[in-house]
Amino acid sequence: MVLWRFAGSAGGAQRQSQKAFAELEASYMRDQTHPPPWPIYYIAVRIMHFTQWLAMKLQLRPVFIMQTAAGFVRAQVLETIIQLDIPDVLAAGPRTSAELAADKGSNKVLSKSGPEAHTLYRNNSNTAVLRADHPNCMRNLVQAVIMTGKPWLNHLTWAMQKDKSVNGQTGPDTPPRLMAEREFGGQSLWEWQAADPARDKIFNDGMAEIDKSAIYGVIHDHKWGQYKRLVDIGGGYGQFTKSILLNHDVPSAVVFDQPHVVEPARKALADTPLKERIMFSGGSFFDAGTLPAGRDGDAFLLRQILHDWSDKQVIEILKSCRRAMGASSSRLLIVEQGVGNKLLDRICGARQVDIHMMGALNGAERSPQQWQQLLSASGFAFNGVDYVRSPFNIVQALPI
Ligand SMILES: C[S@@+](CC[C@H](N)C(=O)[O-])C[C@H]1O[C@@H](n2cnc3c(N)ncnc32)[C@H](O)[C@@H]1O
Repeated sequence: MVLWRFAGSAGGAQRQSQKAFAELEASYMRDQTHPPPWPIYYIAVRIMHFTQWLAMKLQLRPVFIMQTAAGFVRAQVLETIIQLDIPDVLAAGPRTSAELAADKGSNKVLSKSGPEAHTLYRNNSNTAVLRADHPNCMRNLVQAVIMTGKPWLNHLTWAMQKDKSVNGQTGPDTPPRLMAEREFGGQSLWEWQAADPARDKIFNDGMAEIDKSAIYGVIHDHKWGQYKRLVDIGGGYGQFTKSILLNHDVPSAVVFDQPHVVEPARKALADTPLKERIMFSGGSFFDAGTLPAGRDGDAFLLRQILHDWSDKQVIEILKSCRRAMGASSSRLLIVEQGVGNKLLDRICGARQVDIHMMGALNGAERSPQQWQQLLSASGFAFNGVDYVRSPFNIVQALPI
């Protein structure tokens, strides 16, 4: 399969010694989230940018287009090997495709015939990250990305066409078509998820896995110790807040989300030392009355929230936050991938996330200029972007 490294020769079936295999597999289990120090990180990003650009330039156009068209196969294979637990099975030792097929109840896709039947597969540094016990495990995150993207993106063409039935015209004011209307009878992504606890858990566990994989720079490059309290709005299971509190001297935090999301999070925290410092609160960020009231020294955090919503809804959410802050000296931090930084957009896949958000939710990744406009329409002053060593950056704003 695309992601597995060839581990034995056809016909030869060279099994590695158990010790060599165990050492190699163990080497993949290291925490891989620590980026290098700033100057090296910056140079590495530039080199990645250049090599990606060069690879694309060197490729013949038709071949590049063919590879792009087949890109969905990679994503599907990724999801399938997770659903079949293949990285966990391979953690015990290399297997031939026939052995894997036998493990999983014989299946002709997994079981190859001819000389390839003897090829041994083991994890590589990519598939190891899909092991359930990997410190950067991304199993749920991968499934959440595919689950929330695939159904809606099937209707991308339809959504791109202006809908005359909406207001009888096709001018720039025609609202975009919501893909969810086609797929799930008009339910929003959040309603669709809430209707199925298993789906909801994959999504929320997936969001928490972002903290195990891509957030080191956000936690370590920003001066979190300056805040007296974090108010993590739409904070899911609270993993981001936990990471900040474990690494910085922030006295306390409130994680705010929909009631059915905060309940399991509250229970999960009940037996940990952080339970004294983190409170959970349920409500809706469209209703300022349900948000925690701001206090001096608060940071209101919105991580991966606003990219889920249209400009109009973003202004409503920001206005709710502004109202909840009242006269306190709180500040606002928006943690998202964003767009508008030429170097980072391509390296971090921000444009794909942008299309995903448009497809699933009529949302968008936004540039600093767009943030300035949305913030000033909601009672905030844009106070710059803190670029950190992560695919995410931190947009800062002050209440006015
Ligand atoms: C993309 S997730 C981000 C979760 C978390 N902030 C993170 O970055 O891992 C969006 C979150 O918004 C929450 N959400 C959606 N609608 C909400 C609402 N009306 N009020 C409060 N939270 C809401 C969802 O339950 C979900 O946890």
